[in-house]
Amino acid sequence: MKILVTGGLGFIGSHTVVELQNEGYEVVIIDDLSNSSLEVLDGITAITSRKPIFEKLDIRVKSDLQDFFKRHNDIVGVIHFAASKAVGESVKEPLKYYENNITTLVYMLQELSGLDQKNFIFSSSCTVYGQADELPITENAPVKPAESPYGNTKQIGEEIIRDTCKAVEGMKAIALRYFNPIGAHPSVEIGELPIGVPQNLVPFITQTAIGLREQLSVFGGDYKTSDGTCVRDYIHVVDLAKAHVVALQRLLEEKNSSNFEFFNLGTGKGSTVLEVIQSFERTSGKSLNYKIVDRREGDITAAYANTSKASEVLGWKTELTIDDAMDSAWKWEQKVRNK
Ligand code: NAD
Ligand code: WQD
Repeated sequence: MKILVTGGLGFIGSHTVVELQNEGYEVVIIDDLSNSSLEVLDGITAITSRKPIFEKLDIRVKSDLQDFFKRHNDIVGVIHFAASKAVGESVKEPLKYYENNITTLVYMLQELSGLDQKNFIFSSSCTVYGQADELPITENAPVKPAESPYGNTKQIGEEIIRDTCKAVEGMKAIALRYFNPIGAHPSVEIGELPIGVPQNLVPFITQTAIGLREQLSVFGGDYKTSDGTCVRDYIHVVDLAKAHVVALQRLLEEKNSSNFEFFNLGTGKGSTVLEVIQSFERTSGKSLNYKIVDRREGDITAAYANTSKASEVLGWKTELTIDDAMDSAWKWEQKVRNK
């Protein structure tokens, strides 16, 4: 069974391709390499002993996408990761985000509408909940007004999919709302490759520890949490990747209860920034140079998932710990820097 993975050379996409190939799916990757590198293909091949089909293609170029689907009209499922994801950049360049995240989604759904099997999985985000009123966050929590153009593209994206599923016969979709994905594959063949200065916590920690950054700024020590720092739900990218396989199976086996479903993907456990640092220090044996500074604008105090729906309906739960994730992230950082 042939599955299209867009953005399949990116951080979450590459780990998902590995899990799909491990389960015997034939994978075709589309990626324009705007935020990834061709070497990731070698990493995937080294882990699975199988090279996925790869087409370098920018999904914004509609005619190229149409040609692609003429050549691959036997695709039975699409997992759509391709998007721009830097929250801060999206505030400065909103149209880049609306073009890359919305236009590409529309083009994908248009092409999918013409296939025999119209199964679609969308990378959404816990950002749709903003600062939720109740923790842990269930899928019934209201979607809050978006705090960034990036976040808005995820909300609009879900609405576009919902409307399309209502209108197009046979279209079935699942939106997966990720919490904070971290870590790398235990083989250390693939991992996260941030371009420039990382905005996310874990790559900033590992780059500081390896000497690429002088010090980690911990944004805010006066939040109403156990130690004053923000709380997030950090999920190992391998666990997250596996959830895509079960979600896909649900669509392929027509076990879905409606033609548009959505699930939280997190561990169900919140960790503070200081707890993440402690996990890093514990697993790496290194002490981290960090300093508590002012809050970062736009940060929410706390977010972690209620994972009951994913566990009951998808039969999925996380297997790896935050220590596993920090250990793999650190090994990956050392490999990337050849240390
Ligand atoms: P990533 O940047 O590592 O991967 C995205 C991939 O898509 C990259 O390889 C990039 O080159 C490719 N791409 C981007 N625009 C493209 C286009 N127009 N045509 C073809 N390829 C294109 O990001 P990621 O962390 O793996 O995230 C994957 C998805 O998950 C994104 O949709 C992101 O918004 C979503 N998400 C990520 C996080 C996170 O913290 N990483 C959290 C929630 C949701
Ligand atoms: C985590 C915690 C920071 C960097 C973002 C997006 C969200 C989703 C996941 C895609 C926060 C603190 C961070 C640093 C720090 N992405 N921090 N120093 O903000 O939860 O979510 O990524 O959908 O949409 O907004 O993740 O990794 O940036 O931050 O103290 O140098 O680490 O304040 O508490 P965040 P993050």
